[in-house]
Amino acid sequence: MSKSIFRKKSISKILADVASGFSDSEHSGVHLQKELKVKDLTLMGIAAVVGAGIFSTIGEASFYGGPGVSILFVLTAITCGFSALCYAEFASRIPVAGSAYTYAYASFGELIAWIIGWDLLMEYAIGNIAVAISWSGYFVNLLEGFNIHMPAYLTMDYLTAFKAHEKIQELTAAGQLSTITDDLKNAAEAWATAPGSGDFRIIANIPALLIVVIITYLVYIGIRETKKATNAMVMLKIAVVIAVIIIGFFYVTPANWHPFLPNGFGGVMKGVSGVFFAYIGFDAISTTAEECENPRRDLPRGMIYSLVICTVLYVLVALVLTGMVSYKDLQVADPLAFVFGKIGLNKISYVISVSAVIATASVLLIFQLGQPRIWMSMSRDGLLPKAFSRIHPKYRTPSFSTIVTGFVVAIPALFMNLTEVTDLTSIGTLFAFVLVCGGVLLLPKEDATRGRFKMPYINARFIMPALFVVGIVVFRSQLSGLFSGDDLHQNFPYFLFVILAAGLAVASFIKNLSLIPVLGLLSCFYLMSSLNYQSWIRFLIWLVIGLVIYATYSYKNSALAKEVN
Ligand code: ALA
Repeated sequence: MSKSIFRKKSISKILADVASGFSDSEHSGVHLQKELKVKDLTLMGIAAVVGAGIFSTIGEASFYGGPGVSILFVLTAITCGFSALCYAEFASRIPVAGSAYTYAYASFGELIAWIIGWDLLMEYAIGNIAVAISWSGYFVNLLEGFNIHMPAYLTMDYLTAFKAHEKIQELTAAGQLSTITDDLKNAAEAWATAPGSGDFRIIANIPALLIVVIITYLVYIGIRETKKATNAMVMLKIAVVIAVIIIGFFYVTPANWHPFLPNGFGGVMKGVSGVFFAYIGFDAISTTAEECENPRRDLPRGMIYSLVICTVLYVLVALVLTGMVSYKDLQVADPLAFVFGKIGLNKISYVISVSAVIATASVLLIFQLGQPRIWMSMSRDGLLPKAFSRIHPKYRTPSFSTIVTGFVVAIPALFMNLTEVTDLTSIGTLFAFVLVCGGVLLLPKEDATRGRFKMPYINARFIMPALFVVGIVVFRSQLSGLFSGDDLHQNFPYFLFVILAAGLAVASFIKNLSLIPVLGLLSCFYLMSSLNYQSWIRFLIWLVIGLVIYATYSYKNSALAKEVN
């Protein structure tokens, strides 16, 4: 066994470890419960995907992109589709709980596996902070409907209140009182009424904290309870989304679809973070691999079915939404409820708000379920302390990891700002997808396992170089723009994308690479490069912190390192 940071764990060893129930004292003999079938997995996929994205972040994306945001939903779905096929290939070969983390351990080695495990923390835990904040927004609105008013300073984060306070002062000084929205007024009220003085004020999002505590408890007490709760919530939210599409269709004014791209393709691409966020989740079901009856067959199906269903729903919702009102009105936190309120259908608007509360709660549930299982896998490999893989003797869930996840999500949800956590989640998840697609390219081609999903092989040898040349010709003016302008550093991610595309074109030609993972890798990297520069910087800082932990703890304690000594 090597001492290198690129030491790999073979697929046969990974599978043998899981089959033997890991013989150390923390969990010997206690297996996770095998409860899930393809229907449950598809519903869990939808449970994880349909949430804050379609109920909330679609609003801002439509505001920038206009009706053309529906194109972005299709493009993002295609990108996620490539990644889903790569996840499916891995999940079918290595059906264990660690998801992309374990896949990376088998294909790239330990360091990259650590990076991806650390990165998935962004997708699951930071993502859930975003979902909890969005849940809180809808929940507080619902309470208002019942005439229950929580003090505003207990319903949001410090930054939102502070910024609103400053903005209102600015607008008042400029005499633009008519532009002050209700949301802004509410946030400024939080600032004005919060206990404290000067810049020190106690402002915290209590509903966000409470929902995380409740969901964590549910996940802690068992996979069967989680499954039942998920199935019920998902049926309801699909019914509501379909109702929005059908009822909304009768209120579409086709004139709202003209112009289709009011701010050009650039405007559409401003919505990448919000739209991609809406798709995150289909991959999360791969963390339940050890709780599936037939993971090799059912996990790939569950992922792909859920992605297809969500894509159809999303594109239709985007078209209906931008057809019902002008895209200019959609910069709101609750766009689906808002459009029905705007055309006078207040009861429907209210039903949508109730459903949004349920829909986002089910997203929370799936991610709160996934994060501890990734930590469990990392702990089994020695990269995290042993307690993280402890399985509860009665509930048969990863108990310690589940509680830690509860804290890691609940505490920041009290204080953090929605947009920032959404951006961070999107960039982190895209990076995980990049590595999963890249990992498939490194897998041995032959695998005789029976009954497993096999990704179709299309030789990229000539297709990729041809696509590269066409891309250079079509986008030549944008490419020359990469080297001009005042903020050259902002173009750096695009620059990296072009280099990557060139490298993959050459590698495809030389090595007859498989087209689907190559396109998956490139399209995810393209979406990453469309995210703002600040998100890149935050993401890189996050990675550096992860590397420090790896160097100081995980490298020494790795189970593979111990085998050397
Ligand atoms: N896709 C999930 C949501 O939109 C994360 O809430």
